[in-house]
Amino acid sequence: MTRQIKKIGILTSGGDASGMNAAVRSIVRYANYKKLEVVGFYEGFKGLINNNYETLSNNFVGGIIDRGGTVLFTARSEEFKTKEGMETAKKNIESNNIDALVIIGGDGSFRGARDLNNLGISSVGIPATIDNDIFGTDYSLGFDTALNVIISLISKIRDTASSHERIFVIEVMGRNSGELAINSCLAGGADYVLIPEVKVNLVKISNAIKNHREGKRHTLIIVAEGAAKATDVAASIKLLVEHEVRISVLGHIQRGGSPSALDRILASKFSQKAVDFLISGGKNAMVGLQNNKIKTVPFEEVFSKQKGIDKNLYEFAHILAL
Ligand code: F6P
Repeated sequence: MTRQIKKIGILTSGGDASGMNAAVRSIVRYANYKKLEVVGFYEGFKGLINNNYETLSNNFVGGIIDRGGTVLFTARSEEFKTKEGMETAKKNIESNNIDALVIIGGDGSFRGARDLNNLGISSVGIPATIDNDIFGTDYSLGFDTALNVIISLISKIRDTASSHERIFVIEVMGRNSGELAINSCLAGGADYVLIPEVKVNLVKISNAIKNHREGKRHTLIIVAEGAAKATDVAASIKLLVEHEVRISVLGHIQRGGSPSALDRILASKFSQKAVDFLISGGKNAMVGLQNNKIKTVPFEEVFSKQKGIDKNLYEFAHILAL
């Protein structure tokens, strides 16, 4: 028989992602509607260790749907990875009579959730990372907003690149994944994209740039931070193409801003599924979007594979730039 849950805890963990607040709002309002008490822990897993939380009412989450970042704050806690840290977190969860957690974050956060599960603490994960690199979900919260921020910046760069007839190397986030870079290239109408999953060949790119520059006033190259440093790419291309090259490292600007409609809607759908899942006795899984359907995916399955990139999209982005 499944144990009836009465009180849940929420936390946001890892790199912040737009849409986290929209998820916190939906979880609180839906859980309250379902007669569950909700508390929010501050600064991710650190809040579990420090017992730093407060009760979240419908009013508390008013006016946050359109805010980027996370009102619960976030952190990458090293202490939580220790046996002592985990034990303290478990003790605090149990002494506060919390029946289950909703963890909003990325792969690393879900590994923390899985470890807590091994200590008997139930949880469900909501995917949130601008990298969109979590296996088991087509989209993670924050990805669409970051992409929209990036393509608006690419447009601005194109204006100046074209005016001065320059080549620009634009570095976007993505330590281990080229997902954000490929989609930025495609949606931003850039010419080349360098990603961690494909070996960088600057000679080939430089030759292609030389061949295609005829009649072109700008060349835009997107580099995922995990593939190469924009400064190195720019220096090599300048040498090989013998043309002016400028750099723009977009940095954390990509992670800020009001969430897109897609991220807000996805946050709401994920939240409903997550709360229903916990009420039905579910645990140790992430909610995800697969072929336009919201599913639950066991954490172990999420960790079992790399999401990888869409090779076709990578090649197509280059075809469209010719
Ligand atoms: O959230 C994922 C991510 O944005 C990566 O793309 C990036 O490498 C990393 O976070 C940056 O993390 P931090 O904000 O801790 O420097």
